[in-house]
Amino acid sequence: MRLLITCPYWLWSLLAHEIKRLGFNPDSTFQTGTFVTCDMKGMMKINYHSRLANKVYIQLTEWNAMDFDELFNLVKTCNYSQYLSNTNISIKVESKNSKLSSIRAIQSVSHKALLESISRFWTDEKHVNDLLLIIDYDIAKLYLNTSWAALYQRWYKKDIWEAPLKENLAAALLILSWWKFKSPIIDPFCWSWTIAIEAALMAKNIAPWTWRRFNFEYFKNYEHWNFTIIKEEAKKQEFSWNYTINAYDIESNMISIAKSNANNAWILDIINFKESDFLKTSFDFPWDSWIVCNPPYWKRLRDDKLFLIYEKLDKIYTNSFYGGWISSYNYTPRNSSNWNKKKLYNWADECTFYWRKH
Ligand SMILES: C[S@@+](CC[C@H](N)C(=O)[O-])C[C@H]1O[C@@H](n2cnc3c(N)ncnc32)[C@H](O)[C@@H]1O
Repeated sequence: MRLLITCPYWLWSLLAHEIKRLGFNPDSTFQTGTFVTCDMKGMMKINYHSRLANKVYIQLTEWNAMDFDELFNLVKTCNYSQYLSNTNISIKVESKNSKLSSIRAIQSVSHKALLESISRFWTDEKHVNDLLLIIDYDIAKLYLNTSWAALYQRWYKKDIWEAPLKENLAAALLILSWWKFKSPIIDPFCWSWTIAIEAALMAKNIAPWTWRRFNFEYFKNYEHWNFTIIKEEAKKQEFSWNYTINAYDIESNMISIAKSNANNAWILDIINFKESDFLKTSFDFPWDSWIVCNPPYWKRLRDDKLFLIYEKLDKIYTNSFYGGWISSYNYTPRNSSNWNKKKLYNWADECTFYWRKH
């Protein structure tokens, strides 16, 4: 089967690298994802282990769709029924450079065609199956979401609540900054502990998706025995060590939610939280320590206070510490030749990640 794996903007090369480490060969990449060909077990493994993906889709069909008749026939003959017969479907449509451009009409025709493809053996299930139809230069490709909710919504968060920093973006910052798991790491602006929790999961090699449900578990041809093997192998590959992961913030009103998330992920014991004002704290850590953070930006603080924070950060990194910061605040490190720079998006906000060269 051919998979489309999506990720946040500009992280495709990290995602492709992660997919390779999992044992698969991405055959083409683009700004927000990559394609891979593998079997059902591979698809489950990528869903279970990827720290960077947004969603994993199976490609159901691909062909010309110059008019609605062609689109109808294409969708009607796709292999959706091989996986599901659920009539409860939602189809997201994207169309560019193509004759078929009315999103609503495309949605309605493909919805009808998909229902017809399962008309003899349909089921009406409670959960919605999410499909993605992309038409580009009159070629239509239909994908079925195998993940269900986006993979950055980690399993350890029991309440539906979104962190200010997406979890897969936090994982990407740790990977980009080359954090060595045995070195101390500090997030002085931790709020809901996103960076600290991702760091702890990475250090202990705990799969980011333990316990959550996936859409593929509802497939007719779901290989539950292979999924059990994937989970058992992941459990055997977990590590333990005396890690030093520090999470500080001036406010502690997220502490109970953050603690309960860390507890659900069995990593509460390795994160040290301290209520602390960054501007009044001295950072006395060994030279090979990392600071990876998402400092405050314009939404909450006055500009003069913000400038002091970024200036102090810049100075701290100059004397010791690896790692870096992601922010939409406009501050350029003084000695910019010592820094790497990457444009990224956190949700819809354009940000810059600066991280120290080694
Ligand atoms: C953008 S948020 C960090 C969000 C975090 N990465 C997360 O995913 O939950 C910035 C944080 O900086 C904290 N903050 C603001 N001024 C601070 C200061 N002087 N010292 C320490 N923390 C501060 C705020 O309380 C806020 O939690």
